[in-house]
Amino acid sequence: MAADFDRIRKDFPILATSFAGKPLTYLDSAATSQKPAQVIDAITNYYRRYNANIHRGVYRISEEATSVYTHSKELVAGLINAGSYRNIIYNRNTTEGINVVALTYGEQQVKKGDHILISEMEHHSNIVPWQLLAKRKGAILDYIRLKGAAHLDMEDLKRKLELEPKMVAVTHVSNVLGTINDVKEVTRLAHKAGAAVLVDAAQSVPHMPVDVKDIGCDFMAFSGHKMLGPAGVGILYGKEDILEKTEPIIGGGDMIRSVEFQKATWNDLPWKFEAGTPNIEGAVGLGAAVEYLNSVGMRNIRQHELKLTKYAMERLAKLKDVRVYGPGLKDAEKRGGVIAFNIDAVHPHDVSQIFDSENICIRAGHHCAMPLVTGVLGEGAVDRMSFYLYNNEADVDRAIAAIDRVKKVLRLGKAKRRESV
Ligand code: ALA
Repeated sequence: MAADFDRIRKDFPILATSFAGKPLTYLDSAATSQKPAQVIDAITNYYRRYNANIHRGVYRISEEATSVYTHSKELVAGLINAGSYRNIIYNRNTTEGINVVALTYGEQQVKKGDHILISEMEHHSNIVPWQLLAKRKGAILDYIRLKGAAHLDMEDLKRKLELEPKMVAVTHVSNVLGTINDVKEVTRLAHKAGAAVLVDAAQSVPHMPVDVKDIGCDFMAFSGHKMLGPAGVGILYGKEDILEKTEPIIGGGDMIRSVEFQKATWNDLPWKFEAGTPNIEGAVGLGAAVEYLNSVGMRNIRQHELKLTKYAMERLAKLKDVRVYGPGLKDAEKRGGVIAFNIDAVHPHDVSQIFDSENICIRAGHHCAMPLVTGVLGEGAVDRMSFYLYNNEADVDRAIAAIDRVKKVLRLGKAKRRESV
């Protein structure tokens, strides 16, 4: 069924705001998404009507909170075809999910001299936990190289898999290049080599259909706040047999079955990995967010973003002095809705400030991917616009007009300064 994206836009109250007569143009959804009224209302409804702790009270509103909390996990499990809420662990964000895997499964499986394999296009959250693990264990961290500064070099992957890494961790969609990686093929090859696989899905699950069973990975991590939900709730998917045999890292209430003075036994999945009172309102909001995404349809969202991405890339390609990173226009189908760019001789932070003066939000910097931005792209920083279901062509047009303005304001200014020295 087709989706009415003009109507969808109206569900996001923040998009009706303006500043100094300029409408808010939000092009930073890769950093965090805006929230529809349905999600905001679900959270306030929880606080107004059934705020109580879960798994503890034998009274109506606690039981309602418990049931909505578990249902939120069922919705997430359905969204990624995980099979069951038992595979869905809630924590704070993608970063925490990856750290938990490194600190539990990684800690228990990786030994001195073992290899861990990640790629050159990872976010810091999928680099630093493995660096820390490698340091603790005396293991070796290898990187899958990139081809054309845009795609995973699958031949290099095969070569590095000959070293029989214990763990392979790759991003599904790069938060800088926009590249959609063939994580199904990476998983197949990695499993053949005996490695467990983690997929960082922070930039994919919010934007396109993702089927974790089809991909076949052992772990997948993503964040609620990037998929219309609130901040502070992250999702870690794990295969049941692996989660069953993995020891938890954080102990406390709710994650136990019984506690004696010297020892304890663990609760069932997924509660074994959720100690203490969780982010209940976060889960409530995330459940509402998944219902919203389902009502639009992930296929529709993907098509809408692809159309916008192609439109933006076509317009950017016509601009002199603008360099776009990642897969080129003819490979646009292999991109998520993320476009990193630079304007020659202008610092990306100056660009984003001028955009801000037009009430347009983009991100500038290393995007928490310094090895990629500095080491592979050879830049200190880049600008990035990123799309979601509420963006439209008018947003892209405003961004293109802002680039023109940047060129007029900053580059002329620079030329004048040069003349005066
Ligand atoms: N990881 C988020 C981004 O790329 C914060 O902007």
